[in-house]
Amino acid sequence: GDTAVRRDRFSGGPAREFLSSLAADEAIFEADLAVDRAHVVMLAEQGIVDEAVAGEILGALDDIEAAGHGALPDGEDVHEAIETAVIDRIGPDGGRMHTARSRNDEVATCIRYRLREDLLAAVEATLTAREALVDVAGEHAETVMPGYTHLQPAQPTTVAHYLLSYEGGLARDAERLLDAYDRVNRSPLGAAAFAGTPFDVDRDRTAELLGFDGTVRNSMDAAAARDFLAESAGALATLATTLSGLAEDLIIFSKEGLVELSDAYSSTSSIMPQKKNPDTLELTRGVAGDAIGEATGTLSLLKGLPRAYNRDLQRAHASVFEVAGDVREATEVAAGAVATADWDEAALTAAAGEGFSTATGVADLLAMGGLPFRTAHEIVAAAAEAVEDGDSPDAAAAKVDEAARKVTGEPLSAYVSREDVESALDPAASVASRDSAGGPAPEAVADALAAAEAGIETD
Ligand code: ARG
Repeated sequence: GDTAVRRDRFSGGPAREFLSSLAADEAIFEADLAVDRAHVVMLAEQGIVDEAVAGEILGALDDIEAAGHGALPDGEDVHEAIETAVIDRIGPDGGRMHTARSRNDEVATCIRYRLREDLLAAVEATLTAREALVDVAGEHAETVMPGYTHLQPAQPTTVAHYLLSYEGGLARDAERLLDAYDRVNRSPLGAAAFAGTPFDVDRDRTAELLGFDGTVRNSMDAAAARDFLAESAGALATLATTLSGLAEDLIIFSKEGLVELSDAYSSTSSIMPQKKNPDTLELTRGVAGDAIGEATGTLSLLKGLPRAYNRDLQRAHASVFEVAGDVREATEVAAGAVATADWDEAALTAAAGEGFSTATGVADLLAMGGLPFRTAHEIVAAAAEAVEDGDSPDAAAAKVDEAARKVTGEPLSAYVSREDVESALDPAASVASRDSAGGPAPEAVADALAAAEAGIETD
């Protein structure tokens, strides 16, 4: 019948495999069935296809779904294969399914239908990760740790303050994914090849049946646009980049003995028996490379494509679905690694005092005592040459006093009490003093924890 003609015409030759997306289309098998059903229901409602025929087509689609993607006949893509499978089951009337549409609007609809799920799954994973960060932050609200700039000890902070910095990043990543979702969630169906159709289709109805929030109205835009793929890949790459920073930190902290990953999130070496390696975090970091590649790859594929449809587009989406899955998984794994890691409070406290990391706090104190901050900076910089790891607060304060005399000609006591200087030299007191909004002091962190919990609740 019809299909034989079609198959003969496109029997393929050497390029058959190259042309076919059937294998990769497994990702949109379910989506295509949903799109077929919605389209057929609409065609029947509009009187374009007989109700009886529509019923037969819907029955065939159920049967095809039960048999699975693997049972589809050969075809250039999943759309063609499903149509062939319908015709195989109910005869030439099955060909009425493709009335008033094209594979162009069909595939564009399938991609959006599938991508919605992927984006929501990634958002879901960010919520799990944010919860893990907040939970552990709650346990370590006052655990002092070194904060770094340029990978050098800079100022003491707390584990909670550190972890909440990533909670904030992930909250924005989720926002970007949901923002992309809003633009993905529009139906191109009914655009046909790009130029619309003479049939009296109800585009709003199919959009509604497929759960879309309206249509992409211009039919040429609807068939051609893939900017939503680039945007989604960009949002996924940004999320993956956030995770890669967290992963990198934890890799370094575990190497420094500040945190220990649970065995469940570590690997061993096949040769070196003593090793416990942070492989899950390294893979998380690695996924960011793939995600960035996907974002640039998608834009490269789309760049300069003329209106309205070109077969290049067939290569645009499958890899976005794949990367979405990888990023979701990386997010879940990072969440698990964070939730189960063990922070070594003694090692963190010891490290927090290293490298004269309280220097800024001492300079702040001198400035609060009336010195210009620049002069205070000069005094503490001079003291920093002398201060050594392991100095007692008393010894360090004496060195600051000496520096003050050298720079200003006055003893430290002219500006601040010796007691306050010794306190400023203590990492925990230093953290407690930095109680500005969003800072590491326990009250500020308590506010931030409450805000983060409320944010997760709303999202
Ligand atoms: N599998 C194709 C794709 O993903 C379907 C569209 C085919 N349309 C065409 N005009 N050749 O793009």
